[in-house]
Amino acid sequence: MKATFWGHSCVLVEVKGKRIVIDPFLSGNPVAKTKPENVKCDYVIISHGHRDHLGDAVQIAKANDATVIANFEVASYCEMKGCNVHPMHIGGAHKFDFGRVKLTIAHHGSGLIEDGKIIYLGNPAGIIIQSDGKVLYHAGDTGLFYDMKLIGEMNKIDVAFLPIGDNFTMGVDDAVKAVELLQPRKAVPIHYKTFDVIDVDPVPFITQVAARGIAAQILEVGQSVEI
Ligand code: NI
Ligand code: MN
Repeated sequence: MKATFWGHSCVLVEVKGKRIVIDPFLSGNPVAKTKPENVKCDYVIISHGHRDHLGDAVQIAKANDATVIANFEVASYCEMKGCNVHPMHIGGAHKFDFGRVKLTIAHHGSGLIEDGKIIYLGNPAGIIIQSDGKVLYHAGDTGLFYDMKLIGEMNKIDVAFLPIGDNFTMGVDDAVKAVELLQPRKAVPIHYKTFDVIDVDPVPFITQVAARGIAAQILEVGQSVEI
């Protein structure tokens, strides 16, 4: 399994010959280097309905004839826009041709503003992908929650992508506590620096996680990690 960071919360996962894009916020993302029209993928997974996660999902999914995997509400929204979808919900898992996906809780919102109205797109989620003997956890946007301990107990996480940008999600101290609860083999910070309000230095996160005996790695935009 290979995961490539595309900026903010966007991660491309490549496994079993399939390409899965999580939270493809590319157009309007000041740190993104990939254009939505250049994305090749088989699946798009969306953690929640906020614009910086739903992003270019509809355009990308339609251009690739890819399947959108998301909670029922986000999936239904994408279906109404013409996408192939596979709706799921929190606590549920499903085996796809590339591996097993399970949606976890995330403490956050999921409203999308469109045409001056707010559309509420269900509960936000975290994402667990199990494939090829590896486990990837993408926390989506969330505050710290103690059930991360349960997620860590029930999944031997190889890599955890965790938001550290504060304001909308966990900040550094809470994300370090999240790593303690999850006990992943490696932690990667996401959801920071994209905008002024989340302009957080990731180095203290790396240092504090390393002090707890767990590997942590900053991925530059476009950089990959082999899992
Ligand atoms: Ni959000
Ligand atoms: Mn966000």
